[in-house]
Amino acid sequence: MNKSLYIKTFGCQMNERDSEIIEQLLAQEGYNTTSVPEGADVILINTCSIREKAEQKVFSLLGSLREEKARNPSLLIGVTGCVAQQEGEQLRNRMPHVDLVVGTQQIYRLPEMLDRLQQQMTTREIATDLEDSFVIPPFQKLLIDQPPSPAPSGYKRFVTIMQGCNNYCSYCVVPTTRGREISRPMVDILEEVEILVGQGVREITLLGQNVNSYGMTNKVADENVTFPYLLRRVASIKGLRRLRFTTSHPKDLSEELMRCFAEIENLCPHFHLPVQSGSNAVLQRMNRKYTVESYLEKVTALRGYRPDIALATDIIVGFPGETDADFQATMNLLNTVRFHSSFSFKYSDRPHTRSAEFAEKIPEDVKSRRLAAFQNRQDDICLERNREYIGKKLEIMVEVVSGNDLKGRAATNHIVHCTCSSKMHQSGDLATAHISQAGKHSLKGELQL
Ligand code: SAH
Ligand code: SF4
Ligand code: F3S
Repeated sequence: MNKSLYIKTFGCQMNERDSEIIEQLLAQEGYNTTSVPEGADVILINTCSIREKAEQKVFSLLGSLREEKARNPSLLIGVTGCVAQQEGEQLRNRMPHVDLVVGTQQIYRLPEMLDRLQQQMTTREIATDLEDSFVIPPFQKLLIDQPPSPAPSGYKRFVTIMQGCNNYCSYCVVPTTRGREISRPMVDILEEVEILVGQGVREITLLGQNVNSYGMTNKVADENVTFPYLLRRVASIKGLRRLRFTTSHPKDLSEELMRCFAEIENLCPHFHLPVQSGSNAVLQRMNRKYTVESYLEKVTALRGYRPDIALATDIIVGFPGETDADFQATMNLLNTVRFHSSFSFKYSDRPHTRSAEFAEKIPEDVKSRRLAAFQNRQDDICLERNREYIGKKLEIMVEVVSGNDLKGRAATNHIVHCTCSSKMHQSGDLATAHISQAGKHSLKGELQL
């Protein structure tokens, strides 16, 4: 008999990809995914713990499911992802209506765990082992039997190339929640991309917490495989129109990787290079292992290889001990690089991180003021940057067509809106847009026929 599954995903693209893998695994066991939690046989919350707010969202959603469970005692509620890894057994103590807690390396065991619960062989399942010697299973085989649902973004997909992180930035939970950095064998990655492209996928984003160190920490092939080598191999798969990757750590960004942006035609000129702060003192306390000067040198070199590259970054404001002068240094960096976009966050203490122990915590109102100042300036820069595209032609990949409105995405990751009178275009098509207007968050253009 078919069972129904509802998954709510929080957090980064790794979690989004993990949720897809869970769906594919459970589809093999006869589960259909539903878009509403009401009436589902199994509800899974794939969680994120990166900031305090992210974790609070998880607990408030879990709290609200208590009534659902009271109404329907046969409902199984599971927690996966980074909060599950971090809290383990304790999570169930705090939320007794949770039936299973599954850590980040254990999602592949979900079918057997759910089965045991359903057969009433146990009343709870907790699996949070995190092994340094973990081997990422060859889950690309799942795609052959259970391709992910085609709509609405069937033309673009994430492919995980590594799990975990060894960098131990002092503020970050990821090394604890995802464990040691482990690269996936290159043959598995290539096979997965080939299957996806064969199924009509045109754009792939390779995922890892620090893709630049792919292949460095565990042996992934007979040869000494590096990230630039992997990129070239993936890029050459016939039919793949666009290739992206995320995320990169500035300390590991090599000339060889920069050269890829000049030499690989389908590698999109969009680069997410999180800087976190513009102050060397703060960067040092963050354990980032680069300086503002070396970051700026890399930005200049990258732009030398690929002048049209659009740069994005991440910023944390209000790190413990951040002075007004430190924050001003971050604003100066923003004004120097003029990022095309950025994600900026107020610092929050996280469990088992070094910075949680640091003194000189910044008051909430100061953090809010700094965040607003940063975001206002970034908004102005976005508009200035976007205006630079007026009069230019950009190739866009069509995302959604609704009535006469067509929304596409440029290789630089800009959203481009066009008016489309014919019914010719559908998601995944490539088209050329002549840019005529620019807003803060998107561009407008006319389609060239
Ligand atoms: N692996 C990626 C980013 C992972 S987390 C990288 O190294 O760049 C995404 C972003 O969340 C980080 O870049 C950082 O800006 C932010 N972040 C992480 N921990 C945080 C914390 N404790 N408080 C506020 N922001 C945080
Ligand atoms: Fe966290 Fe730093 Fe690893 Fe990124 S590189 S996941 S910020 S520890
Ligand atoms: Fe969040 Fe875990 Fe990703 S903490 S950002 S879901 S790696």
